[in-house]
Amino acid sequence: KILILDFGSQVTQLIARRVREAHVFCEVHPCDVSDEWVREYAADGQLKGIILSGSHASVYEETTDKAPQAVFELGIPVLGICYGMQTMAHQLGGKVEGGHKREFGFAAVRARGHTKLLEGIQDFATPEGHGMLEVWMSHGDKVTELPPGFKLMASTDSCPIAGMADEDRGFYAVQFHPEVTHTKQGAALLERFVLGICQTRPDWIMGDYISEAVTKIREQVGDEEVILGLSGGVDSSVAAALIHRAIGDQLTCVFVDHGLLRLNEGDMVMDMFAGKLHAKVIRVDASDLFLGQLAGVSEPEAKRKIIGGLFVDVFKSEAAKLKAGNASSKGATFLAQGTIYPDVIESGGAKSKKAVTIKSHHNVGGLPEQLGLKLLEPLRELFKDEVRELGVALGLPPEMVYRHPFPGPGLGVRILGEVKKDYADLLRRADAIFIEELRNFRDEASGKTWYDLTSQAFTVFLPVKSVGVMGDGRTYDYVVALRAVQTSDFMTADWAELPYALLKKVSSRIINEVRGINRVTYDVSSKPPATIEWE
Ligand code: XMP
Repeated sequence: KILILDFGSQVTQLIARRVREAHVFCEVHPCDVSDEWVREYAADGQLKGIILSGSHASVYEETTDKAPQAVFELGIPVLGICYGMQTMAHQLGGKVEGGHKREFGFAAVRARGHTKLLEGIQDFATPEGHGMLEVWMSHGDKVTELPPGFKLMASTDSCPIAGMADEDRGFYAVQFHPEVTHTKQGAALLERFVLGICQTRPDWIMGDYISEAVTKIREQVGDEEVILGLSGGVDSSVAAALIHRAIGDQLTCVFVDHGLLRLNEGDMVMDMFAGKLHAKVIRVDASDLFLGQLAGVSEPEAKRKIIGGLFVDVFKSEAAKLKAGNASSKGATFLAQGTIYPDVIESGGAKSKKAVTIKSHHNVGGLPEQLGLKLLEPLRELFKDEVRELGVALGLPPEMVYRHPFPGPGLGVRILGEVKKDYADLLRRADAIFIEELRNFRDEASGKTWYDLTSQAFTVFLPVKSVGVMGDGRTYDYVVALRAVQTSDFMTADWAELPYALLKKVSSRIINEVRGINRVTYDVSSKPPATIEWE
């Protein structure tokens, strides 16, 4: 296994991810673990290498964080990245200097000498035959003097010591970030370190993640009980399936049906979790409550607040009922959530605090404190695509796991203005047709369906009427808009250039099959300045 010591960089989990991609088991621990802890961790002989992550700070000024000295005394390879390189240099007798202009962005690195780490790994060669790498740099301080025993491994114009190595001891360090995808050869370099230099065996698979996670969940939960809000979305579904695998009936899922779900969604969720997985699921039909409170409210933020607030109320009252209704149990002491790594970064970053609220997101933040529950978040270290892979490995159907995201307030933000049951019913049927046809139509060049070629697609209900003609009669009915976007991060998005044949089929089916809608439009706005959802 590989140990990653975290010095606080936002991209530390990316190192873990790259190691997992090389099929090697790894764990991330904070950098301030003790020498004894490190020795103990290595005692069974399984630890084959250590990676020191980057940080936001510099070695001299903002932090005094160091790697436990034992790291350099175990006789196993160590790779320092960015700050990890600086602390390695500092702790082993080299020199690090601050006060330089911060270097941020792409840089061309020239490999120096021959090292096992960089041998044969390059993006291109100079006419003189030097191997060159295009890398991502982000640092202020730099190493200005090699520690004794080290040789120069790489340099850039502005950073003469951009990499160093003491191959006898298996110590390597790079100033750039191999874990980010901007560094094209980064994955190859990390793979070289863990497989070639640390000599680990590439035998770790997602299936192993399940058994490791199951063991951890059992240890954490013991014989206590866990409650989880199941939404039908990917993250909460995968978390539920994983926790259920670990503790069976100690888990109770609460599925709040707010009446703003997609067509047949509630039944599908119940069928999967209660039917196939035999998990304990309480389905709360709260649609009258939600629609009642939403009556007469048309301002988007007000609608979002009502839906989010009611969700918390319903969930709390179910948790209380669970406690009261079961004399033999103390009730749940854990609240499980499908928090994934990008959520962790987003809520921890200063960015989200400063950002203006464009839309108040529906989530259950603050709920654990209000309920007096401990948190169980087994997906905290995983990225979205890893969560999906895990879901499939747990036996969830790929259609569920590879679904487009669906916002917490559901159709509540896809019916413009006041939400009414009739509107929701019309929208559900129109949307199901759109999604069905996206799944039917394939792009010939890639062989993929248009559902897979878009990141998110849905239908929006516009509460305005327009005139149409059907047979010999005049119609005066509602309008829907189709929305389909392509994006990698949902922060910016382009509208999808869906084939006309697909749009034509969807439009004609909706108008013919959904009585009450006589006009279909296509939304051709990018984000920004528009957002993906209409409210
Ligand atoms: P916007 O409309 O802001 O949406 O461009 C970006 C992404 O966020 C989703 N979204 C939400 N997801 N709760 C969620 O869980 C919410 O309240 C919420 N509002 C928007 C939206 O569907 C898109 O994927």
